[in-house]
Amino acid sequence: MQIAKTIVEIRACVAQARKAGKVVGFVPTMGALHDGHVSLIQAAGKRCDYVVVSIFVNPTQFGPGEDLNKYPRPFEKDLAICEKHGVDAIFAPEAGEMYRRENLTWVNVEKLTDRLCGESRPGHFRGVATVCAKLFNIVCPDVAFFGQKDAQQALVIRRMAADLNMPLEIVVCPTVREPDGLAMSSRNQYLSPEERKDATRIYQSLERCRASIEAGERNADVIRGRMCDILRQMPATKIEYVSISDAETLEELGQIRGRVLVAVAVRMKSARLIDNILVDTPAK
Ligand code: PAJ
Repeated sequence: MQIAKTIVEIRACVAQARKAGKVVGFVPTMGALHDGHVSLIQAAGKRCDYVVVSIFVNPTQFGPGEDLNKYPRPFEKDLAICEKHGVDAIFAPEAGEMYRRENLTWVNVEKLTDRLCGESRPGHFRGVATVCAKLFNIVCPDVAFFGQKDAQQALVIRRMAADLNMPLEIVVCPTVREPDGLAMSSRNQYLSPEERKDATRIYQSLERCRASIEAGERNADVIRGRMCDILRQMPATKIEYVSISDAETLEELGQIRGRVLVAVAVRMKSARLIDNILVDTPAK
């Protein structure tokens, strides 16, 4: 496994793979790798001949007062996980390598970033889209892999790549969960044992929504109410949003129809957690 800290180094690794006729897969991450990340690495390994993982805690997607400084950085452990799963190259730049001077060029994906996490984390998706555009230009992958866990992020990146005619394919992989349903996240390690127990309510609320839809309920407000009843059982937790939206446009729905994204964000004392499910219903 090659470990590149600079843009020149990773470009040389990928150029060599490309010369050998290999299809290049790319998994961008911020490290603190868990089985969710591993599922993306495995998907990349299946589809591609050469797999690059980036590990970079991107400062431009964190707002003031967010967890940039305390974000976990278990670099050696991450390397071992990548090695174990057959990753060919790691790109792990310092912030100064990615942002050499004041950044004046930003990628803003409109509309899709107005709501949900975009509303509570202003500037977040501008940072995500910009760093992904930079990483795509540095790594030049054929295919890049993202998780459904961050549904809005996946939509934003897909749209950016399409709108800017980026020559790569975006693949979105299913959310990997703990046995009790909690979506895996690098931020779960911030939780106290008590909070960790409470956090199972998030997936419970999503499953309640699915059950309601399957039972024939089509009034989104009624379902949002049922979900909030479950989420309110988490003491000292602020519900940031409970959203039932069109899975393509993220427009909030009154009546449920077609493919819907059901998404939740909560702020616990020690972490902000998000989760979502997709539910398919008849289009009419
Ligand atoms: P990070 O949170 O490290 O996530 C990296 C990738 O792993 C993302 O595509 C995310 O959706 C996916 N992922 C995280 N948890 C998952 C789970 N439980 N199941 C499936 N996939 C999961 O997302 C970022 O980093 C950053 O915003 C990044 C795209 C790297 C840009 O900085």
